[in-house]
Order: sequence, then C-alpha cells, then structure tokens
Amino acid sequence: MIALPLPEPPLAGTRYGLRLWTPEDASALAAAWADPEIRRRMPVPDPAHEAAAANWIGGCAGRRTAGLALDLAVVDLSEPNRAVVHGEVGLSAVDRDRGIARIGWWTAPAHRRRGVATEAVSLLAQWALGPLGLEALVAEVDHDNAGSLAVARTAGFEDLGRPVDGRTVLIARPPGVVEGGITGRV
Ligand SMILES: CC(C)(COP(=O)(O)OP(=O)(O)OC[C@H]1O[C@@H](n2cnc3c(N)ncnc32)[C@H](O)[C@@H]1OP(=O)(O)O)[C@@H](O)C(=O)NCCC(=O)NCCS
Repeated sequence: MIALPLPEPPLAGTRYGLRLWTPEDASALAAAWADPEIRRRMPVPDPAHEAAAANWIGGCAGRRTAGLALDLAVVDLSEPNRAVVHGEVGLSAVDRDRGIARIGWWTAPAHRRRGVATEAVSLLAQWALGPLGLEALVAEVDHDNAGSLAVARTAGFEDLGRPVDGRTVLIARPPGVVEGGITGRV
C-alpha cells in the first residue's frame, strides 16, 4: 500500500479550508454523528459518543498511511485558530491502481446553507483529480438528498445514470476526460 499524501499546502478556498482532524475535535465530531440528518444519510457509529469519535480520529493517520482513506475537517479560514469544525470531507475506498475513490461529506447543522460543503467538496475533488492523480471520484447520494445532489453537481460531478440501491451515483473526472474513457472501470 502506498500512503496517501496530504495536500501541500493545505487546501484553502475563498472562505473555507481543510485540515487534519485533531483529538480536540472529538466532541464536535460526536455531536455531528448524533445529528439525525447525518445519521440518516451516512454510516456513523452507534452510539455516537465522544470515545467513539476520539477512536475514529485516532485512526485517521493509520488509514491514510495505509493508503485507504483521507479524512479532513472543514474550517472557516477567517477564524484565527480554525478550531471550529464546520464539516467533514473525505476520500475512502481509495484504489490508486484503478485511479478511483469514493468521496463523502457532511456539514454540521449550525453551519449549513452557507456553502461549506460545496467549497469543501470542490477543493478535495480538484486536488484528488489533479495533484493526487486519480482518474475518477464517485459519490453516492440518496435520490431525495437535494442539498447533497446540488453540492455534487456544483463541484463538477455528473449523474452516471446507473442508480445503486436507490442512490444516485455521481462521478467526477479530471478536466478534459470524457465519459467513455473509464466507464467500464467504475
Ligand atoms: C447536504 C449537506 C451536506 C449540505 O451541506 P451545506 O454545507 O449546507 O451545503 P451548501 O451550503 O454548500 O449548499 C449547496 C447547495 O445545496 C442547497 N441545499 C443545501 N441544503 C439543502 C437542503 N436541505 N434542501 C435543498 N437544498 C439544499 C443550497 O441551497 C445550495 O444550492 P445553491 O448552490 O443552488 O445555492 C448537509 O445538509 C448535510 O450535512 N446533510 C447531512 C449529511 C449528508 O447528507 N451528507 C452527504 C451524504 S451523500
């Protein structure tokens, strides 16, 4: 397994940036996992207590060095110490040989409808399909998850037209790569 590199410099957009999770984020992560909308849309630990969150954060480095996943916290660049977690965006099921990974995200309830997820997903997708060198990113979104469908489309994902388990499968590729190029590999 090849370790996943970290974006260098850290990814920063116009308002939000992505940083590593720290042990101090455990309570914020547990609170997000307890949010009914996040629980409804994503697989999260049950119960979502702080110890589980601390354990997950403690495993981030190992998942990254094993080349499996990259999980980043979304922060507001205008906050001096960037301690407040606004959301999460991450790559999982990373397969560098096939050049493909899944991408997932959430925004903490208090920070929704401000463009957090759109900027975070755009930043990570552009890095993954650019400097990291992946050929495709896949997002699976519930048909009735209007917010996340909007996030994905604004970040450059297109509906693959092949739903899986009632979920819309969206795909993003590096700029200039056409549909036929990798369809058979997804
Ligand atoms: C869906 C979710 C990620 C949106 O995060 P967010 O930071 O509020 O999204 P943004 O502010 O970037 O909004 C992006 C777009 O979605 C729209 N949107 C956001 N939430 C919406 C909602 N609940 N219903 C309809 N549209 C919504 C916004 O208006 C915006 O559209 P616009 O660009 O046309 O103005 C957030 O509500 C969430 O975390 N939900 C639970 C977890 C989840 O669904 N994760 C994704 C699993 S695939």
